[in-house]
Amino acid sequence: MAEIDVRDIRHVYEKGTENETVAIKRVNLTLEDGTANALLGPSGCGKTTLLQIISGLLTPTDGQILIDGEDVTDQSPAERDVAQVFQFPVIYDSMSVYGNLAFPLRNSGVPEDEIRDRVHYVADLLDLEDILQDSPAGLGPEMNQLIALGRGIIREETSAILFDEPMTDVEPYRKLTIRRRVKEAQREFGITALYVTHDQHEALTFADKVAIMDVGELVQYDTGQNLYENPTNTFIGHFIGSPGMNLFDCGVGESNGVPYAELGGHSITVAEKLHSRIDPSWTDCQLGIRPNSVEVAFEEPADTSEYVPASVNQVELHSGFQIATAVLEGSDVEVKARVAHDDPVDDGDFVWLKFPGEDVRLFHKQESLEAA
Ligand SMILES: Nc1ncnc2c1ncn2[C@@H]1O[C@H](COP(=O)(O)OP(=O)(O)OP(=O)(O)O)[C@@H](O)[C@H]1O
Ligand SMILES: [Mg+2]
Repeated sequence: MAEIDVRDIRHVYEKGTENETVAIKRVNLTLEDGTANALLGPSGCGKTTLLQIISGLLTPTDGQILIDGEDVTDQSPAERDVAQVFQFPVIYDSMSVYGNLAFPLRNSGVPEDEIRDRVHYVADLLDLEDILQDSPAGLGPEMNQLIALGRGIIREETSAILFDEPMTDVEPYRKLTIRRRVKEAQREFGITALYVTHDQHEALTFADKVAIMDVGELVQYDTGQNLYENPTNTFIGHFIGSPGMNLFDCGVGESNGVPYAELGGHSITVAEKLHSRIDPSWTDCQLGIRPNSVEVAFEEPADTSEYVPASVNQVELHSGFQIATAVLEGSDVEVKARVAHDDPVDDGDFVWLKFPGEDVRLFHKQESLEAA
């Protein structure tokens, strides 16, 4: 497989007409050889457009695609050897599953005994051995996806495989099995993969690194852990996690030369490493904290100096935990906190919330101070 380089890609549909749409503003991205990557973002943010530019189905308005350092922007999909697995793949009912898998190899004149070995190798990996002689008609969408995947990886020359929302038509209970087989194939073949989805769970379980797009821009390309712990802006903080990060407009101030954040009339300690980055004259600031970082005390703590009193107005039961929403005293700031499934918490309860300094994220004009 290969390294894929997306350089300064910009794409405008129907340029110069009244329907002109800037689908991709400017994207730079390097997918390292053999890595599993996901492309995640809300509907219309440009995921499919970017995928088609990488595969060669679409010529970008500006910028280059490089495969292992070679500029392939003007090459056809076949010349690039980039396989694409679509939401609704085309599988030929006139051939057996074996015939479908062998198709790309026969097209390039590979001898039949080599084809046989390769088909069995791929079929074994994807658990398709038992149905090799069957017709794909009636096998269902999940099997079609696996056949399409197999066809994508059957040629050893393939540079990369791109998936565009391949699970849309798959029954929820089968998704896990399919994803596991796809992942196994990705590892075994050292496939450079880019998997488009708008399901963060799917993205995070499949990929080593996830690229997140919003309105035509790449916002962050990072590991799941970093996206969760260190979002570069408030969009990522909100988008990743379920529920997402608590985000509030906040003030910043300084007391005896030590900066702090001000939320609903309460001062919140921030990590020391951020002190030098805070300008107390800022106005457009946001404070972020993950629901599972908010510490909840149900009894009044001995030392209340680091706690903010709050009253609970909603408790939602999730699988294995609860999300309590509490309003900070004297304000309308609503904080979501994750508590254990058996913690004694109810609507109307009075609690004390602690925002541990190392878990508090600060944003200026929606951009993280840590990333700046
Ligand atoms: N062929 C086209 N002609 C004109 N505009 C288009 C075309 N294809 C996409 N667009 C527009 O470009 C933008 C990006 O579309 P794209 O399909 O790449 O988004 P996406 O992230 O794949 O969305 P989804 O999650 O809904 O599949 C959207 O505003 C869309 O309306
Ligand atoms: Mg799309």
